[in-house]
Amino acid sequence: MTNSSSQSPTPLQPCCGRSIPRVDSKDKARGITRFVSDLRIPGMWYGGLVRSPAASGFIGKIEFDSPFDRSSVTIVTAGQIPGKNAIPIIKDEMPCLAAGRVNYLGEPVALIAAPDRQTLKSALAAANVEIDADEIPLIGIEPLVAAYRSDPAALSLLHELIIRQGETKKGFEQADRIVEGEYWTHPQEHAYLETQGIIAIPERGGLQILGSMQCPFYVREAVAHVLGIPENMVRVTQSPTGGAFGGKEDYPSLIASHAALLATITGKPIGLFLDREEDMAFTPKRHASWTRIKTGVLGNGKLIASEIEFILDGGAYTTLTPLVLARGAIHVQGAYACPNVSIIARAFRTHIPPSGAFRGFGGPQALFAIESHMDDLARNLQIDAAELRKRNLYRTHDTTPFGQVLRESVGLGKCMETALDLCGYEERRRNIESRNIIDSNVKRGLGCAVFWHGAGFVGAGEAEMTPHAELRLKTDGYVEIRVSNTELGQGALTVLSQIVADACGIAAWRVRYPLPDSAEAPNSGPTVASRTTMIVGKILDRCGLDLVRAVKKRLPALSRREEGFIVSEGDHLTWTESANRVLQQGPLHIMGSYKKPDSLSWDASLNRGDAYAAYGWGAVATEIAVDMETGKITPREIWCAVDVGRAIHPQAAEAQVEGALIQALGYALSERLTVTEAGAFRQTRFQDYLIPTTTEIPRLHVALVESPCSHGPHGAKGMGELPMNGLAPALRNALLHALDLPLNSIPLDPDKVLNRFQAR
Ligand code: MOS
Repeated sequence: MTNSSSQSPTPLQPCCGRSIPRVDSKDKARGITRFVSDLRIPGMWYGGLVRSPAASGFIGKIEFDSPFDRSSVTIVTAGQIPGKNAIPIIKDEMPCLAAGRVNYLGEPVALIAAPDRQTLKSALAAANVEIDADEIPLIGIEPLVAAYRSDPAALSLLHELIIRQGETKKGFEQADRIVEGEYWTHPQEHAYLETQGIIAIPERGGLQILGSMQCPFYVREAVAHVLGIPENMVRVTQSPTGGAFGGKEDYPSLIASHAALLATITGKPIGLFLDREEDMAFTPKRHASWTRIKTGVLGNGKLIASEIEFILDGGAYTTLTPLVLARGAIHVQGAYACPNVSIIARAFRTHIPPSGAFRGFGGPQALFAIESHMDDLARNLQIDAAELRKRNLYRTHDTTPFGQVLRESVGLGKCMETALDLCGYEERRRNIESRNIIDSNVKRGLGCAVFWHGAGFVGAGEAEMTPHAELRLKTDGYVEIRVSNTELGQGALTVLSQIVADACGIAAWRVRYPLPDSAEAPNSGPTVASRTTMIVGKILDRCGLDLVRAVKKRLPALSRREEGFIVSEGDHLTWTESANRVLQQGPLHIMGSYKKPDSLSWDASLNRGDAYAAYGWGAVATEIAVDMETGKITPREIWCAVDVGRAIHPQAAEAQVEGALIQALGYALSERLTVTEAGAFRQTRFQDYLIPTTTEIPRLHVALVESPCSHGPHGAKGMGELPMNGLAPALRNALLHALDLPLNSIPLDPDKVLNRFQAR
């Protein structure tokens, strides 16, 4: 029996809303955490991919240069796949290994397993794939848009979505001014710290998969599909994951299937690890986009009509593109009320690696377009861009173009006010303008943008997958969280522990969170779409309350919770004692599942209704300096306010905002990723793909605005992706302020800025 006097009777402080030490930080700081490539599995062989040297064509022979001895390795091609040769991501379309033809440069054509890394390297170097190139492949967003303008029917459409409200024709007739613009974005690389890696271990007829991933149940489904075995014969465990940003949402399903195939065929554990160059060259990137926007405004600056065309480069296979397109289309009118809207969104197939999930998921592309356009509109109307925004911002009870009434938690106006106050907007604009008159070498500019992001799956997505979560009461009052959601560095583990601790009325150190394991945890859904805190946190919150109820029910009559104790028949039992008594009667596991709020409805055939249960809102302003000799833009300061509903862990929330701002800074200014005519990404190293370094990060001011949402735990909404959405257009708008130069394509690299300025 534990000694009750060792426990303090003072009530526990609530954990949510406090920045407790992050539960994974100690092991990571001390270097104890072992990532997948640190694991040593006895008898493990190494797996590698033989890739297509061409972007489009028919596969001929696969041969090995002499003197390489192919008997020292195992080679696997599409014909040896025992199940279906397709990775199930929305559609069964992308093959596990190309069969017959290839559709992008670098597409996996064969697999090699070798006893050691050196042999693998020699085998891959000796392998030659013959491709009978059959056409001039469509590559890059500019050629795609040119082809779209001349003959859209000749293109391969991956997905299309239409959103309509009111009558745009009538709206434009009423408009006092009509402004039109076109906006471009380019691919972006995730640049996660840890590259992709998977280990597959044959196990009693089935397989165990360990790896760096966001979604263990996606991986399980894919591996079972490709091997043609039941899903319960595949056990998937996440290994500690060093960053993901969406890059480990879809792609691990592909390489886990490769590792699983090799493990099944060789009967050996297989480690498949991509080095940085291979990872950057062939894994999915953020979708490149082109957006055409035409808006009509009334004399008072209110939007009256808007017509938008939103085009994405989907790459070679469908994968997640329909969902990225949907999120982009839903967000592309921006955070502004407008009665007459027509949005047409289309994604097309091209011959680059399939574009994939990336933090923001269509949002950054959509918001770059509309937020740049708002500044163009303000310039045309000769009113201040912040003022134009204020006149149109969403407020509670406004209706979106897809017919959603924003019933609660619309902290957008507060975010705008906060961000502008923090930077001293009006005074700063004036000071900059007078300074620019006297300094011809360096021009400054101040730009802003507002943004939003829906939390969770779109539409009925959450209800359809019905995520489950489980809590298990353990000896001495520990509580174990069993979910499939993954810690990726974002703080999910800490935040979910805090929610459970408060629901159970225990300290956070009593909450344990074993690494997600498909054999042990229910499917609580993938760790994507800014859904973990809001959706899974809410389920766990209810599980925690149910767990305490169940504990009291198992104790003698009249028990109640009091100051950290269970009081039962006059006995003060500590939580530890209560738990141990309860467990004498058998295990206590509490399973909970997602409950769709009755007030939400979505019609997927019309794209109308409550697209998301809640939206995060934000506003950002930034001051830049432009070197007029080089065209280089230096951000001087960034002010950002975001409405996250409630910050469960304020420090982690602020850190997420800072991280996203830096990622958006690279996206807007320096991360140029171009494709050769042959279909290869030119930048495959950090030497030429320039992510911001510590010396290039300006002062960041982050404010958390809290307008609680009834659908999340303690009022919390999703926030992981939100702060990625607004900075790129704010920087572009700052450039517009500095030089009166509207550049409509990111990244804004120095050459582009200089050339366009001089050509003006
Ligand atoms: Mo995400 S970009 O929904 O992993």
